[in-house]
Amino acid sequence: MSQIYTPSTSHGPIKEVFPDVFYVQGTVKMGPGVRITRSMVIIRENGGLSLINAIRLGSEDEAKLEKLGQVKHLLKIGSHGMDNPYYIDKYQPKIWSRKEAGLGYEPDVMIEENVELPFSNAMVFKFKNAKSPEFPILLRREGGILITCDSVQNWGKKDLKIGSFIGGLVTRALGFIGPAKIGPIWLKTVTPESGPNLSLDFERLLGLDFKHLLSGHGSPLFDDAKNTLEKQVKKVKF
Ligand SMILES: [Fe+2]
Repeated sequence: MSQIYTPSTSHGPIKEVFPDVFYVQGTVKMGPGVRITRSMVIIRENGGLSLINAIRLGSEDEAKLEKLGQVKHLLKIGSHGMDNPYYIDKYQPKIWSRKEAGLGYEPDVMIEENVELPFSNAMVFKFKNAKSPEFPILLRREGGILITCDSVQNWGKKDLKIGSFIGGLVTRALGFIGPAKIGPIWLKTVTPESGPNLSLDFERLLGLDFKHLLSGHGSPLFDDAKNTLEKQVKKVKF
């Protein structure tokens, strides 16, 4: 692959939020002056790293990433993936992706429910009724850690400060702010015109055991993620 990569954008440090599970809160430019948060999850196992919702890091933090282990797997579970070409060329990881047109690279493994993941005690969930399904991952440890992209987001007021001022206004106006919130734009985009809707998928998702949420947007939600999501689901008109 030969191309110009997207540059690293401002981001926070690599934080170990659970043993061998790391979270980086970064940013993405949505338009002129509009910068919002997006986050990456890193899972370490047997010296190898799996990156989910990958974000390109600045050189200092990239060196820290390399100290954590070897980048062996790159997982595209939802829409995020602008920095994937950079990681693919730099580290030649095994590429796991949902089915998607126009990726510009060939996945090694198509992500589906029941696929065997490159880290232990984990499973894939599929938003089966979505027009373009997202595939959250459940780590069966620490009481259950749910990893999402856009489907469930966790924005607090402090997360607005990470992006730009205008980004904060836009996300607030669009209704992003709140704990374990179903991404409003995501929901609109993936809801089918007819047939079973996403409420059935959320019912299935809430049937899983999890306590924590690591979303592709916002910050980690510890301990109360499932109860919080349950309340959010009740508020939504599907
Ligand atoms: Fe997103």
